Amino acid sequence: EQTISKKPLTLLLAAPRGFCAGVDRAIKIVELALEQHGAPVYVRHEIVHNRFVVDSLKAKGAIFVEELDEVPDDAHVVFSAHGVPKSVPANAQQRGLAYFDATCPLVSKVHKQAERQVQAGRHIIFVGHAGHPEVIGTFGQVPAGAMTLVETAEDARNLQPADADNLAFLTQTTLSVDDTSEIVSILESRFPNIVGPKGEDICYATSNRQEAVKAIAGKCELVIVIGAPNSSNSLRLVEVAARSGAKAHLVQRADDISMNWFDGVDTLGLTAGASAPEILVREIIDALAAHFDIDEQQVTTAQESITFKLPRELAGAAA
Ligand code: F3S
Repeated sequence: EQTISKKPLTLLLAAPRGFCAGVDRAIKIVELALEQHGAPVYVRHEIVHNRFVVDSLKAKGAIFVEELDEVPDDAHVVFSAHGVPKSVPANAQQRGLAYFDATCPLVSKVHKQAERQVQAGRHIIFVGHAGHPEVIGTFGQVPAGAMTLVETAEDARNLQPADADNLAFLTQTTLSVDDTSEIVSILESRFPNIVGPKGEDICYATSNRQEAVKAIAGKCELVIVIGAPNSSNSLRLVEVAARSGAKAHLVQRADDISMNWFDGVDTLGLTAGASAPEILVREIIDALAAHFDIDEQQVTTAQESITFKLPRELAGAAA
């Protein structure tokens, strides 16, 4: 009997990683809508930024669209976890569409704060990434012109607001903790009267995943982050790992991994963005086990037990 000796590889698995409570809830909302109302159920925008999740829901009868005008009149429609501008539910109501809102409650919280600041007469500085659906959704909570986007520290330094004494700031939930604290301190030092949330609006899942990858990245030559190229929190994990000096790559599936990334790698770090299911973590470890003798170690930096309630219309029948 011949045994081929495989190269040893230490695998540091970051924890927490993968699904957050908002993603879990959003997927359940689509599944329950399908169970209770039958296929098809329309979903406006990718429910969460993960192709595997989207494809699994498609297989169960979900139809993904970008805008409501692609949804027929008598259909059920779900709004994605990232949140939507106010015009979207208003439009759905006008058309008499039955809709379920899968907006993460932590995004809804920012929406409410935005409304409140505008009611208080403040102009809002919003820290976030242009074009991300969460940013579009949050801007859509307030009248046009009530909010200004700041993406970088440089933007924060160059900002010339009309009324510097009457400002509030809010942030996207999936930003880099380190970059955002720099931007917020620039805003606070330039505009001492600016009103903001305690710290920022970065959610627990985003900050926990960044902290966890930070804890392993310094010990790894290579860090692989499972996530989609349009997933903000996953891209931030790649940045955090790279800043710790590791090579860092974003992959969607095991197929995306290239064996020549592993030259000189004895310790690999592995994590997953908040929209990536654990099954993809196992897929990648299994694929690597064909090439390496893996010593798997989990490094846990926080325990998460948070869950969010489902919308009442769906929760009743699920119980
Ligand atoms: Fe919500 Fe944060 Fe997840 S905002 S959807 S808990 S990444």
